[in-house]
Amino acid sequence: MRIDIISLFPEFVAQCAGFGVVGRAQERGLLALRGWNPRDYAQGNYRRVDDRPFGGGPGMVMLVDPLRAAIRAARGADPTPAKVIYLSPQGRPLTQAIVRELATRERMILLCGRYEGVDERLIASEVDEELSIGDYVLSGGELAAAVVVDAVARLQEGALNDAESAAQDSFEADGLLDCPHYTRPVEHETGMVPEVLLSGNHAEIARWRRRQALLRTRERRPDLLAAAGLSAEEVRWLDA
Ligand code: ADE
Repeated sequence: MRIDIISLFPEFVAQCAGFGVVGRAQERGLLALRGWNPRDYAQGNYRRVDDRPFGGGPGMVMLVDPLRAAIRAARGADPTPAKVIYLSPQGRPLTQAIVRELATRERMILLCGRYEGVDERLIASEVDEELSIGDYVLSGGELAAAVVVDAVARLQEGALNDAESAAQDSFEADGLLDCPHYTRPVEHETGMVPEVLLSGNHAEIARWRRRQALLRTRERRPDLLAAAGLSAEEVRWLDA
């Protein structure tokens, strides 16, 4: 998969993507990142990329032309059509289902805004989708782009080693939160490992994990339970 980042700080996103699973995905050739800085496409001695908002008010708004030129440069460098995704708090909230869909694409262009925002005409003419990573405001789209890159990179075939299988993640199997995990030592001053995990009985362990995931989801994210499709036995666990 190839991801182009349009940003005044493209190295920032590249740095975030240089470690761990995402770094390894790049080394394995499963992910190629490329940054495009709109300042390189700006005109004049000052290479302006922003200006004051019409109608007044605080802050600056990013200009159409440098962003459009950067997007076109990114597009033109590869013939595969790529959708432009603008990261902003006004976008559709990112979910694991959206991440799964994005991860199947061959290419995408992530557009990061700065300052108070981006001229609406750029969004209307160049942007295909708008995504938010949550109901809070960041000072720019770069961290959000890094989140998208990380979430889709780890789903690329061959990015995770067996031991890191994505299938058991929170949200991945059935939209439930993950169960608790333990490793050595069995006894520790902070507590014991639950006995069932030491039993070697795989069916019992699977039941315990599923029950823990359900209880945890009910406690922390009851909104997710409705969509989980529980069996009659699982409903009884929750009623007990
Ligand atoms: N840019 C600023 N805040 C953001 C958010 N919450 N999600 C995505 N992009 C953003």
